[in-house]
Amino acid sequence: MTVRLVALPGDGIGPEVVDATVEVLTTLAGDAGLDLSIDRHLIGGAAIDETGDPLPDATLNACIKSHGVLLGAVGGPKWDDPAATVRPEQGLLRLRQGMEVFANLRPTKMEPALADASPLKPDRLEGVDLLVVRELTGGIYFGEKTEGTQEASDLCSYHAGEIERVVRLAGDLARQRRGHLTLVDKANVLATSRLWRSLTTAIVGDEYPDLTFDTMLVDAAAMTLVTRPAFFDVMVTENMFGDILTDETAAVAGSLGVLPSASLAADGPGLYEPIHGSAPDIAGQGKANPMGTMLSAALWLERDIQRANLAERLRTAVSRCIASKQTTADIGGALSTSEVASAVRQQLEQTGG
Ligand code: IPM
Ligand code: MG
Repeated sequence: MTVRLVALPGDGIGPEVVDATVEVLTTLAGDAGLDLSIDRHLIGGAAIDETGDPLPDATLNACIKSHGVLLGAVGGPKWDDPAATVRPEQGLLRLRQGMEVFANLRPTKMEPALADASPLKPDRLEGVDLLVVRELTGGIYFGEKTEGTQEASDLCSYHAGEIERVVRLAGDLARQRRGHLTLVDKANVLATSRLWRSLTTAIVGDEYPDLTFDTMLVDAAAMTLVTRPAFFDVMVTENMFGDILTDETAAVAGSLGVLPSASLAADGPGLYEPIHGSAPDIAGQGKANPMGTMLSAALWLERDIQRANLAERLRTAVSRCIASKQTTADIGGALSTSEVASAVRQQLEQTGG
């Protein structure tokens, strides 16, 4: 069977990190006898320039019919006019909605070789291995908006089904990890948070009594992430809190450049993308760290096509490059994006078979 991956390079450093990852995936597939076809499609600013639409129908259709989607990044100053009604980010939001990828998994594990790149003291980093499960297709991102020059509003609304499905997924994942689930909300202020809290508490009580469960207000969670990040195992939270907290977890780990993410649907292909953005300031210079995209591809290999062994080989190859400083400058090396791709391929060849 041919495995069809859709690659969406997007904007800024997106094309560079996606190219590097496609190269590595091609080596891995060739070596493992995996029949892999990779089709590139337009999204974001690149799609606006070419078609006027940040998510052309052809792109969404290809994604829905694929065995998985690998995305670089979207957005940049060229399309940043606040008065613009068509924006690159709309492409990403519509893609998430169109693929119904309601759960966004953002794991952070401390790579010992990256401890220096973290702003935190080394003793706080010991044992950091956490997973944020962010609700991705509801809440304030998708509520009704009004926008005037004197007044604007964004509606935050959730219904029970949207909360329950992501909480169950987070509960299942907590069970496969250290068995600790934390709901992050703002239940002292927001009605939506109180709904999250009552539904989550009931689900955990009925279906996941084996888990250690706690709740934390989002402000306290933001603080705990820098004072005691090792406290967390699985955090589950609404769309916007998850957006904010995962930039923070990425910084805690030392580099936004190495963290992957997986966005999962109930059934159907997932969307895999690095946590970092399009970094227009360094685009086109070969400085972008492709490892977050490569590790996102590893998540794809294990989740969408059940090739955990290949995912493990890819992760090992990336880890070895990090440990031997064969990296881009953001995490202490001196290689370009494409040189990192070659280094990872060499590592893969050494562990081949
Ligand atoms: C992310 C990004 C997006 C989001 C933007 C680009 C719309 O920040 O994936 O975290 O806010 O979800
Ligand atoms: Mg974000």
